[in-house]
Amino acid sequence: MLSAAAKVNLVLEIRGKRADGYHELATVMQAVDLSDRLVLDEAPGLGLVVNTDGVPCDATNLALRAATTLREAAKIDRGVHITLDKRIPVAAGLGGGSSDAAAVLLGLNRLWGLRWPAARLAEVATALGMDVPFFLRSGAALGTGRGEVLEPVVAGALALVLVNPAFGSSTAEAYGRVTPAMYTDGSRAMRLAELLRTRQAARVAASLYNGLEAAVAPLHPEIERMRAALLAAGALGAAMSGSGPTVFGVARSFEHARQIRGRLTRASWRCWAVRTLAGPAVRMRTSTMSSLGRGQAARRGTLDPVFGGSNPPAPTTIGRGRR
Ligand code: C5P
Repeated sequence: MLSAAAKVNLVLEIRGKRADGYHELATVMQAVDLSDRLVLDEAPGLGLVVNTDGVPCDATNLALRAATTLREAAKIDRGVHITLDKRIPVAAGLGGGSSDAAAVLLGLNRLWGLRWPAARLAEVATALGMDVPFFLRSGAALGTGRGEVLEPVVAGALALVLVNPAFGSSTAEAYGRVTPAMYTDGSRAMRLAELLRTRQAARVAASLYNGLEAAVAPLHPEIERMRAALLAAGALGAAMSGSGPTVFGVARSFEHARQIRGRLTRASWRCWAVRTLAGPAVRMRTSTMSSLGRGQAARRGTLDPVFGGSNPPAPTTIGRGRR
């Protein structure tokens, strides 16, 4: 079994537009202990089953694309059946799909006996999305270039509260709304990378920044409401993560994070108290998970006929996080 952690962007600066159409970034990414679970089983073809309604399980799913892309890059004829237990909200700015993809790359590197070094896997990861290489690594990192050029950052542990409004935000649309007025010079990211060593939650909280907020917040007034609610509930600082809409707040301790989460009472929000991770974003356990869990119906998608057929989608229940 693999666990694939979410991330937050403690700082995300847009430095300009590149000739290749992407934006030049300076961002500090930090893995947190809210994780999807994946099981990879050797199979004749490529297949995926997901336990959450609204998550595509066709070829647009990044976990399945990771398997396809790796199989093509390695020029081998192997298969895998992926069971994905989704806990990270989708299109949330938390990198869930990218983390799943990284988990599939790391898992298949072992299952298919490829023994590829990290740098070679990182090339495939970048082809899947600019956030994916981060999840092949650990803890916290400073990302430059399109976000895929990574330097490890030594970070003290932090407790955070994540608030998600149960709707998604499109990354491409967010970047499409960026104007030069939103460009900054990257110094905030550098400063925060230094500050993270100090374990001073209040100073980190005062230095959060996301240049994409100016592009995304006008589309979703809920983002400002979530930030205000986090601050009113005692968070030391709050910011949007990635291209949103998830907003996170910094707490003094994990107990404080749980208190803040308890004070956020809006029924339509999903909230989690989490800790930052110092170790790998993707963890591997050798035990396998035979089913998706009690009472969970599953949807099935396939690329190869061996996993043909489809089950009706499970009813969606959006409940508050229990962490
Ligand atoms: O890398 P990823 O596929 O997640 O990016 C989705 C979209 O976000 C890209 O197609 C691009 O429009 C935009 N993007 C960008 N600059 C970046 C990263 C993403 O403009 N550094």
